[in-house]
Amino acid sequence: MDDLRDKYIDLIANAGDEASLEDLRVQAVGKKGEISLKMRELGKMTPEERQIMGPKLNALKDEINTALSAKKEALADAALNERLKAEWLDVTLPARDARVGTIHPVSQVIEEVTTIFADMGFSVAEGPQIDTDFYNFDALNIPGHHPARAEMDTFYMHRAEGDNRPPHVLRTHTSPVQIRSMEEHGAPLRIICPGRVYRADYDQTHTPMFHQVEGLAIDKNISMANLKWVLEEFFSAYFGTTVKTRFRASHFPFTEPSAEVDIQCQWKDGSVVVGEGDDWLEVLGSGMVHPKVLAAGGIDPDEWQGFAFGMGIDRIAMLKYGIPDLRAFFDSDLRWLRHYGFASLDVPTIRGGLSR
Ligand code: PHE
Repeated sequence: MDDLRDKYIDLIANAGDEASLEDLRVQAVGKKGEISLKMRELGKMTPEERQIMGPKLNALKDEINTALSAKKEALADAALNERLKAEWLDVTLPARDARVGTIHPVSQVIEEVTTIFADMGFSVAEGPQIDTDFYNFDALNIPGHHPARAEMDTFYMHRAEGDNRPPHVLRTHTSPVQIRSMEEHGAPLRIICPGRVYRADYDQTHTPMFHQVEGLAIDKNISMANLKWVLEEFFSAYFGTTVKTRFRASHFPFTEPSAEVDIQCQWKDGSVVVGEGDDWLEVLGSGMVHPKVLAAGGIDPDEWQGFAFGMGIDRIAMLKYGIPDLRAFFDSDLRWLRHYGFASLDVPTIRGGLSR
């Protein structure tokens, strides 16, 4: 029996992997293993022999089982050590960039604008970007022959021969939403409409697609004074400083009287600071809604009046965040904007800063 013990203890010690260890277990203590067979022989022994051999065999079985599990653990440890040696991690390598998406500056400004006007009781209205020339022009008192149609450099939608739907355009301003909102809600009305508009124009301050926000307030006893107050409240909240405004007489077919609105600013070393100084910068067109426009929207001009304005969103975004070229918003990627320190793009990464 000592031979048997020495044989298996030796074999177990030299087993190279878990599979051969399992073979050894079956050979030694498995159902038909050598030790199990010996145990079966106990039955044929005399009681005296059995009393001696029984405990010995049990002890041997225990010893072999213990050796097997010790070896099994050792093999697993060795395997883990091998893996650890092969798969190592260089914790001194710089971390990979965590790419964090950010909201587009124009979207952010639209949100800021919406919040400020919401505080003054304006709700948000929307209209289609492809609209009929009726909503974009006629209903706004811009008839077919009117020079404003040419001035606006309108993109017309292609029409196949025989297509007799009304002509459609890419809206040249957000003003058509005035008409759609009047039709839908009637008076009184207090809405803004931020959105994309299109004109065939391209230079440092013009892109073929840009953003406007339309404002429209219709009620009884509305005047230009209300318009001026609303705009000054808006600009002061938006720029975070008191901003004076100046009205300049102007002409729009859809307002009477009409005014262009300038905000107070100062040019300092080639850049503009809003809310100080004696310079003025044009930021929007406005006026009292023309009676014909009210009527086109189904509102009785003898009973109601209103003011309207249309402001360039990209323009006021450039002013607030110091971006000199409008094309940067739509042509280049966001790294370019970061270069100009656009605040909303300075998002923390998990390393606590931007790497570019
Ligand atoms: N729609 C005009 C434009 O695009 C702006 C405007 C809106 C003027 C409302 C007056 C009233 O230039």
